[in-house]
Amino acid sequence: MADERPIIFSGIQPTGRKTLGNYSGGFRQYVQTQEAGEAFFCIVDLHSISVEYDPADLRSSTLDLAALLFATGLDADRSTVFCQSHVTAHGEAAWLLSAVASYGQLGRMTQFKEKAAAHEFVSAALFTYPVLMAGDILLYQTDLVPIGDDQRQHLELTRDVAQRFNHRFGETFRLPDGQFPSVGGRIMDLQDPTSKMSTTLSSEQGAVYILDSPDAIRRKFKSAVTDSGRDVRYDPAVKPGVSNLLEIMSVATGETIDALTRRFADAGYGELKEAVGESVVELLSPIRERFEALRADERELQRLLAVGAEKARRASEPTLEQMYDRMGFAKPEAGRFFGAARPRGL
Ligand code: AMP
Ligand code: TRP
Repeated sequence: MADERPIIFSGIQPTGRKTLGNYSGGFRQYVQTQEAGEAFFCIVDLHSISVEYDPADLRSSTLDLAALLFATGLDADRSTVFCQSHVTAHGEAAWLLSAVASYGQLGRMTQFKEKAAAHEFVSAALFTYPVLMAGDILLYQTDLVPIGDDQRQHLELTRDVAQRFNHRFGETFRLPDGQFPSVGGRIMDLQDPTSKMSTTLSSEQGAVYILDSPDAIRRKFKSAVTDSGRDVRYDPAVKPGVSNLLEIMSVATGETIDALTRRFADAGYGELKEAVGESVVELLSPIRERFEALRADERELQRLLAVGAEKARRASEPTLEQMYDRMGFAKPEAGRFFGAARPRGL
């Protein structure tokens, strides 16, 4: 297998407006990894129903996200970009894998605990969410999963689930590794630099959105919370605000944190905030323009997603088939599990 190109898989939710954190831990890495192997990027709409949502919004945010994935540089000829609900194997895999996912481990997931605390109604889907994610990854025999730091625990669970399945039913899944950015794996909230910048939990001023106007971006950085003292240095434990700003600028410009620290050594916090804001405006403006052009053509987006779904169906089918088989289900008459219950022509 040494000469095979690695299989890369990642998923991103179509809810909320995507943030600079998503750009750093998500989009930016997707574009880098699509060059390195056979890449699948999945708009995980089935995950989005685990918290309260509006069905009309889900439809339009799915197309928003497709446009944003292409606007940040994914190439439909090179990568498979598709929608999770278009490939029924994902829902099926989640159920099968729930037999080898541990209830106790699911209850220990930080994201579950945080989201459960933030919502009045806690759905069963919020609890089983990581099992669906494990299925996403394992169905493609994935080698590498580009994600931000907040997804480490879910990837660990995926590996545990895969190992338990392999042990109990025979070697079926490859064990995936995470790929985390060396800088910008966890972008923090501008108003509260001890919490992560989040689509759902951050305030309007605390989160920078990829599609924010240049003025909004400048304003948010101007009012970013910094730390006591005056010196500019990278030390997240003592100086979370300044360290976050340095990381953001490093993501936006590609300069190292060391170089930036030297450059701003004698500058005040005001000057640093302004420079970081400008660098983010420069990073995001071309993306916003490409997004607007792509989003205007819904038919083309739908077409690209249909092509992606077809490729994803073909790629995931053999593994799903094997899962049913190894788990001992009686084969349907036609001899294949996948799609067996669906009448022809539908
Ligand atoms: P989501 O929007 O939750 O589907 O997340 C999509 C990707 O963005 C995942 O790989 C996350 O790890 C990543 N991500 C989300 N928030 C941040 C953040 N504040 N910093 C870095 N990466 C993030
Ligand atoms: N849980 C991930 C998040 O919230 C999204 C996701 C779903 C994912 N399935 C995945 C990420 C598979 C990587 C691989 O960000």
